[in-house]
Amino acid sequence: MKKRLLGILFCLLMLSFVLAGCGKDTQTSGKGGKKVGVAMPTKDLQRWNQDGDNMKKELEAAGYKVDLQYANNEIAQQVSQLENMITGGCDILVIASIDGDSLGTVLADAKKADIPVIAYDRLIMKTDAVSYYATFDNYMVGAIQGQYIADQLDLENAKGPFNIEIFTGAPDDNNTHFFYGGAMDILNPYIESGKLVVVSGQKKFEEVATLKWSTEEAQKRMENLLTAYYADGTKLDAVLSANDSCAIGISNALVNAGYTSDNFPILTGQDCDITSVKNILAGTQSMSIFKDTRTLAAQVVKMVNAIMNGEEVPINDTETYDNDTGIIPTYLCKPVFADESNYKEILIDSGYYTEDELK
Ligand code: BGC
Repeated sequence: MKKRLLGILFCLLMLSFVLAGCGKDTQTSGKGGKKVGVAMPTKDLQRWNQDGDNMKKELEAAGYKVDLQYANNEIAQQVSQLENMITGGCDILVIASIDGDSLGTVLADAKKADIPVIAYDRLIMKTDAVSYYATFDNYMVGAIQGQYIADQLDLENAKGPFNIEIFTGAPDDNNTHFFYGGAMDILNPYIESGKLVVVSGQKKFEEVATLKWSTEEAQKRMENLLTAYYADGTKLDAVLSANDSCAIGISNALVNAGYTSDNFPILTGQDCDITSVKNILAGTQSMSIFKDTRTLAAQVVKMVNAIMNGEEVPINDTETYDNDTGIIPTYLCKPVFADESNYKEILIDSGYYTEDELK
């Protein structure tokens, strides 16, 4: 009797091992245990942390293993992380590059190993190893910023002239050319007609680029411009800033020079970083482009799934993004702007931030 009972117990034990094993198996082999390498540029900016977190969460929910790395804005570090992803068995790479021109050699190894590459947010240049690109419409980002300035100053109707200074982003980021191009296509006609005056005269791409998108660099340049061209009381009416990390530096310089929410120049931004949204509410920045990183991450996960399953990959642009080896098929998400008038709807009702986070 005792023997029989022990036998039954033993069988039950074995059965539970088998069942637990099966469960485990289905979990890790959801995608056959496929691994996605996700390379992000830096933890310094809020947006890349959100991008990385969203990608990891979504990919894991879809059954993938994820190797997520941040590279401290150091190109060499990103290259070595990618080498490790390639040798470490990643089946596909999703890369937000630091310098779009510096990944050719390492990605040649990815191509040799048949590992597809999705360029995330920033296009990777001069390599035929890039299979797809997913981003927000970068030209539209710049155009919305330019149009915001035109609308706020009512450039169509107001007599002017209005004084403006221009700041764009890192020169080694391919996106920067699109942000600058989109904004200047709107602003240039007003500059040419004299309604907008760039008092410093600095408007060429190389003159207005901001190394590494650095807040400190932007602040320093704005301080120098204020000292050199505005110390005599000349009023600054608008500053085009390509993103929030630059806008924060510019805003600091303007506040230090005595501008207040009552006479603050129109100041643009991008990313809706919390610091910038707080500045918008305080009147020391005017707007920021909202790029919902949840949307981009979800789109990239769809692309990863399609590539891994050999299905048609969702894209909506086959004309705009040439990385010097040919056009890279792209999915463009749509940017919108948030300012004081609509931030509740855009940022809070959408669940992106809570009211408390913006206090
Ligand atoms: C991104 C922006 C970001 C900037 C600085 C650009 O490539 O598109 O959203 O503000 O990099 O990190």
